[in-house]
Amino acid sequence: MRIALGVTGGVAAYKAAELVRRLQQEGLDVQVVMTRAAREFITPLTFAALTGQRVITEMFSEEGRAPANIESAIEHIAVAQRIDLLLVAPATADVLARMAHGVADDFLTTLYLATRAPVIVAPAMNVNMWEHPATQHNVATLRARGVHVVAPEEGYLACGMSGPGRLAGLEAILDAVRQVLGLKRDLVGETVLVTAGPTCEDLDPVRVLTNRSSGKMGFALAEAALRRGARVILISGPTHLLPPPNAEFLPVRTTEEMRRAVLEQARAATVVIMAAAVADFRPAAPQPTKIKRASGGLTVALEPTPDILAELARDRGNRILVGFAAETEHLAENARAKLEAKGLDLVVANDVTRADAGFDVDTNVVTLFVRGAAPVELPRMTKREVADRVLDEVVRLRHLSR
Ligand code: PMT
Repeated sequence: MRIALGVTGGVAAYKAAELVRRLQQEGLDVQVVMTRAAREFITPLTFAALTGQRVITEMFSEEGRAPANIESAIEHIAVAQRIDLLLVAPATADVLARMAHGVADDFLTTLYLATRAPVIVAPAMNVNMWEHPATQHNVATLRARGVHVVAPEEGYLACGMSGPGRLAGLEAILDAVRQVLGLKRDLVGETVLVTAGPTCEDLDPVRVLTNRSSGKMGFALAEAALRRGARVILISGPTHLLPPPNAEFLPVRTTEEMRRAVLEQARAATVVIMAAAVADFRPAAPQPTKIKRASGGLTVALEPTPDILAELARDRGNRILVGFAAETEHLAENARAKLEAKGLDLVVANDVTRADAGFDVDTNVVTLFVRGAAPVELPRMTKREVADRVLDEVVRLRHLSR
């Protein structure tokens, strides 16, 4: 989901930087729009670095000059249509007045008039300005128009006075965002252990046996579980991905390292989701020195690796266990067999022969298998969407187990 964050000119503007981070952790794509006054308090560069996107500061490309092209001339319309929410935080008395009166004299206020997305404002200002009848009247006008107002908190203000006027806590602002966008918080109290990526098995000091897992599926699950309020432990084989900032991250390399980390961390977990592509075989006798090239070729003996999920299932307690099944044929048959053999609550099966599913792509096509119910075939989705559907099923299973 996309959100435009309007930052206006008050001391609390510095808090908007942390707000951007927290919104991103909710899985939101944040476009920052700054008023001219906001730039007296914090620079656009800070927000550009945090969001990786250009910060919109001006209605026109450069002061007084015509827009460079038609796209920038009507950018406010494009942004207005693209966003799912406009959040103004901090909102000064001035911007509240301009919004209440429909004055469109900069990008932010023009965006407010142009968008049909819901709007939240989080005012912050001096106590007298907040309590002034003009401001209260403007806030009432905005409320009557359906704008959500996250009221300022009481406390010590930067101007030296005390009273209501301090920007509401970030958690209160995030709660309003979640409520307006209908974001779920149904994993609060759960500890979700997710595995991701490949494992690597040494053949000798320079060669490894591994697979094409990028970690995208597992990382998407970790991010979605965090968004929905869980404590998340992410155990991953080598990938190029950055772990979500709030996850407890444990990098591993081999199947044995993953096994030890999972068995250790699972004690605290209430849900375990194994999205990692764990090696099924490893060299029976890894060589301590580099194997020399020989004219007659090379035959390597492989032995099975320990089955981490099956081991976990033997002492499962009240944990919900979710496995993935990477299949190239007989998807339903194989997935059901894994559900039973590994003692799982849910198997997420993906046909990894498809170009738009499985390894190293951003989308996946999965079927969900649970005991005693018909399989649920999902259409092609982003891995983020798949992650949410898997977690919906986890929440359903948790309700059934109570
Ligand atoms: O990482 P990406 O590029 O995003 O790709 C995603 C994915 C294709 C890796 C993912 O969607 C997926 O299918 N992961 C499971 C891959 C796999 O190992 O499947 P499997 O059918 O071989 O194993 C079944 C289950 O047992 C898996 O949950 C696996 O983690 C687990 N397992 C396997 C072997 C083993 N020794 N121990 C295990 O616990």
